[in-house]
Amino acid sequence: MRDVISIGMIGFGTVGSGVVKLLEEEKDLFERRVGAKLVLKKIADLDITTPRVVTPAPEKLTTNVMEVIADPDIDIVVELMGGYEPAHSFLLKAMKAKKHVVTANKALIATRGSDLFQVAEENGVDIGFEASVGGTIPIIKTLKESLVANRIQSIFGIMNGTANFILTKMTDGGEAFEVVLKEAQRLGFAEADPTFDIEGIDTAHKLAIVLSLAYGKNVNFDDIHVEGITGITGQDIAFAKDLGYRIKLLAIAIDRGDAVEARVHPTMIPFGHLLANVNANFNAFHVVGSASGSIFLYGQGAGMMPTASAVMSDVVDIARNIREGISSRVPARSIREADIVDINLRPFEEIRSNYYFRFSAVDRPGVLSKISGILGEKNISISTVIQKGRTRQGAVPIVMTTYKARERDVRAALEVIDRLDIVLDKTVLIRVEDDDL
Ligand code: HSE
Repeated sequence: MRDVISIGMIGFGTVGSGVVKLLEEEKDLFERRVGAKLVLKKIADLDITTPRVVTPAPEKLTTNVMEVIADPDIDIVVELMGGYEPAHSFLLKAMKAKKHVVTANKALIATRGSDLFQVAEENGVDIGFEASVGGTIPIIKTLKESLVANRIQSIFGIMNGTANFILTKMTDGGEAFEVVLKEAQRLGFAEADPTFDIEGIDTAHKLAIVLSLAYGKNVNFDDIHVEGITGITGQDIAFAKDLGYRIKLLAIAIDRGDAVEARVHPTMIPFGHLLANVNANFNAFHVVGSASGSIFLYGQGAGMMPTASAVMSDVVDIARNIREGISSRVPARSIREADIVDINLRPFEEIRSNYYFRFSAVDRPGVLSKISGILGEKNISISTVIQKGRTRQGAVPIVMTTYKARERDVRAALEVIDRLDIVLDKTVLIRVEDDDL
């Protein structure tokens, strides 16, 4: 049996520093739990001079990534550099050199996961990516292993801390979008380019990964419908409150039997639901399994030590396998790659949801009946109507919520309504999730 397992790391940023810190501070714990010493042999980064929270011995640091990938003593390569290239090539090279790999690279797993998993299987090595979704929350292992006896009926998740932080502050403190975004960047959980956070792309990357595990299928990232939070205003947050909802950026997967719905968009959810109470930068997943029923996972979706905890859970899993002389015990997506087929995603226009509309209309007799008439013609049934306050001379916000309607019909109705001369601005549409939650 092996008594030392060697690790090499590529990328020595915030999460990398956390991994080094954990390996140093908890080395006895790891040794007891693995039954072998975990030794960090080499760390590669282009910048090895900036001080970090940890100070590895200088001989462990290199600017040459090949000193990690080509070192025959290194068993596990941990990639924490992020981005598509050269991270993708480095992971492929490492696996072809028969090294197990661990990555936190969500964008890469979401868009190139199939290649990486295939190469892992061909080379008989493991690939761990727990840290790619939900930071410290064990959603990957939960789907792959703990819920293996279940067909996954639905997943509703808050998967981006930055967007959740912004919406929480806008809701609870009435703060402006731009001010809160700057604060999230200062606190360090926004991406370098916050567009991915606020436009829902980071959430969609995570949903693509979760979907492919939940259903054991290939997911084409571009088929996921994505809307961000940049259009959310204080006015809609206030109307949502009046209606008993909070607005969250949700990632949604629902198995409808013949197809799976997968979408990311701002969503109104009832105050009382656990997800409505996931605030600040926290992430959460509400998963419904066919046998398990509802389960709820909650925790820090980013940050140095929470993410390092997830990275180390993969490292320990792999180290335990190495000690037992086995690999690929649990396939990357719970199903052998050869058996993976493409997922059947329902076109977004075909989804059915409840809706919130805010019309900006002139305030005169017959306006409400005109709007509701068009909705009725498209088979959209109104559940609530609120009209209060005038925003400017002659214009008034009219808020309506609907019963379940088809996205295609809703779009067609709004197209007609927005062309009416009694409607002064583009209608705001926010989907409402109630009964599917
Ligand atoms: N930018 C991400 C977030 C970091 O805000 O959640 C974790 O993936």
